Amino acid sequence: MGQTPALDLQQRWGAAPLQDALQPTWPGLRVQVMAEVDSTNTELMRRARASDVTPTLLVAEAQTAGRGRMGRPWKSASAHGHAALAFSLGLPLAPRDWSGLSLAVGLALAEALHPQLTIKWPNDLWWDGRKLSGILIETAASPALADDTRQVVIGIGINLDAPDAEGLSTRPAWVREFLPGLDAPGLLARVAPGLLQTVQQFEREGFAPLRDRYAGRDALAGREVALSDGLRGRAVGVSDLGALLVHTEMGTREVTSSEVSVRPVVAEGAVP
Ligand code: BTN
Repeated sequence: MGQTPALDLQQRWGAAPLQDALQPTWPGLRVQVMAEVDSTNTELMRRARASDVTPTLLVAEAQTAGRGRMGRPWKSASAHGHAALAFSLGLPLAPRDWSGLSLAVGLALAEALHPQLTIKWPNDLWWDGRKLSGILIETAASPALADDTRQVVIGIGINLDAPDAEGLSTRPAWVREFLPGLDAPGLLARVAPGLLQTVQQFEREGFAPLRDRYAGRDALAGREVALSDGLRGRAVGVSDLGALLVHTEMGTREVTSSEVSVRPVVAEGAVP
């Protein structure tokens, strides 16, 4: 007798062994795989609002309405013919301060993948100056949680092979450029443990203890940057709360991710 497709899916992704491996770090975490969903973030946000706040790692082979930061769409892997990993973590969290969580998540991914990966503030992973992955973090209050606790949904999309670059100013990067042969389940198993450990450390201690590690991968440090509010200056690192520090003619500005977007300024004539 053949296996049901649902069982095939869970087995293909190694959901049960991965869930077992993650229990010591996050007891009670469940690992679920869906063939298709609108968006893993949207799905976990829906569940949180409906009082399902069980710690969950939800991975989908295809998203029909993947979402990126600043309201942008995030292209689904299979719909566009390239391999990618798309998953979200839904976790009840009660940090003293949420600032810097997205930087901590980017750092955990970079450290799990390659020593030469850098982070373009706040959390885009860069390989060779090109974007490899994106992170979208949302939170929801839930009637099932204590007042000081929110359900955080950490959504991560990572290119495995060459994505469609249409409409993008810079060609994206992909994991198989530096880890050939890795598949999406292998990539998930590689990044999930460190990610959960870093989120746990963040909940206990905030971003400050991670600042030096972030600094070692800061793609913008020392570079001229342009902010979307028109300001220009030199990026000089991040604060204990994960704000980007920019020296401008008007003094040092602390930029938080909700305020503005930032891009490095490429000197005229230079090839980006
Ligand atoms: C960005 O704009 O850089 C963030 C992209 C985040 C994409 C991931 S894919 C898994 C999760 N589900 C979504 O709809 N978005 C995130």
